[in-house]
Amino acid sequence: MADKLRVGVIGCGDMSRNHAFGYLRSDRYEIVALADLSTEAMSDFDEHFAEYSDYKAEHFTDFREMLEKSTLDVVSVGVWDKGHRAMTLAAAASGVKAILCEKPMADTIGAAADMRLVCERNNVKLAVGHQRRWIPAYTMAKEMIADGEIGDVRMITAFARDGLPNYSSHQADMFRYLLGDPECTWVMGNIERETDQWARAIPIEDKALAMFGFEGGAQAVILASLTPRAGWGAWISGSEGLIDLSLTDVKLMNATSGGWQHHKPDGDYLKYGDDDFEVREAAIAQARDFAAWVSGEATEFRGEAQHGYKALEMVHAVYESARTHTQVQMPMKTMVHPLELMIEEGHLPVRYPGRYDIRNRSLRGENTASDEENG
Ligand SMILES: NC(=O)c1ccc[n+]([C@@H]2O[C@H](COP(=O)([O-])OP(=O)(O)OC[C@H]3O[C@@H](n4cnc5c(N)ncnc54)[C@H](O)[C@@H]3O)[C@@H](O)[C@H]2O)c1
Repeated sequence: MADKLRVGVIGCGDMSRNHAFGYLRSDRYEIVALADLSTEAMSDFDEHFAEYSDYKAEHFTDFREMLEKSTLDVVSVGVWDKGHRAMTLAAAASGVKAILCEKPMADTIGAAADMRLVCERNNVKLAVGHQRRWIPAYTMAKEMIADGEIGDVRMITAFARDGLPNYSSHQADMFRYLLGDPECTWVMGNIERETDQWARAIPIEDKALAMFGFEGGAQAVILASLTPRAGWGAWISGSEGLIDLSLTDVKLMNATSGGWQHHKPDGDYLKYGDDDFEVREAAIAQARDFAAWVSGEATEFRGEAQHGYKALEMVHAVYESARTHTQVQMPMKTMVHPLELMIEEGHLPVRYPGRYDIRNRSLRGENTASDEENG
């Protein structure tokens, strides 16, 4: 086994803990440095991983100082979306081998495009943390579709909430993963925004309905906050059968299944019953495959940045469709955040004023409101 990959983590909040859990449990990495504006966040991070005897990370309140002083192979970017571009660019320019940036890839497609460009220019592998690509049930459903168990996929239905980029970049990525990563060719949708709701310093809608068309003819729909239902999985209908997919189960019905055939694919790492099954199971598998890719043992990686980019593009295209009242043809040409643009241009006045951020609960100290400069 090659030497362990030296990791630096930028932003020591919830999702970075998940990256770190994957790094430590996959046994391919050592976490050598943390960067966070909050020293308390870094101390809590240390405490959280105290059980791992080889965990020992130096602390930095300036991520650029961390990049300069620590010799890193891998950087995790786990701050809020608006920080992803600056931190990825700085990490890429510092000479690391690879970056695992959280989803959504960035706050705008323009920023995400910059991230891909600078990583390519510096020969740095860039990945986006859509960890649901490693949920065993998702992979089983994907394989059933590839094996023709339900014929040609006609429609995939998924349910969401809490803002399209924040929540539904997962659903957009899931559609492409299940279908074998075809291009999304068009998007049409609409949103409702009566409250001044934000998620991690980015405005979000109250409700959304979004349709996506893919090369090959499949279509998909997201119902966001239109029904009480939200979360993992999808209803998948094909020309010759149906799949009902959830976090842990796959139900298949086709001409030979004899009614609903129930599958419960086992995770490689953690068994069912764990509340954190998704993120923990997937975090280890993602980290394992990421190490293989970074070390050159694998030529491809399920979470390569092109997929994160396309997921972001798909959800931003819903806003763009609402903004322009058109069926948006992909690729997107508008590189700013279309919802922000609509708000700035006064096209989306809120009925119930008063800005609030659904993720302010993770702020520390006296902060009660997200500071965009920090994110
Ligand atoms: N893949 C998933 O399922 C999933 C789940 C949750 C969150 N996320 C994503 O993860 C990212 C982080 O979200 P979170 O909920 O973990 O955030 P969080 O609020 O828990 O943590 C963010 C951390 O970043 C730190 N930070 C802010 N500005 C910084 C700076 N300039 N330098 C260094 N540190 C800084 C904060 O102090 C905080 O500790 C977001 O992009 C979010 O969308 C993904």
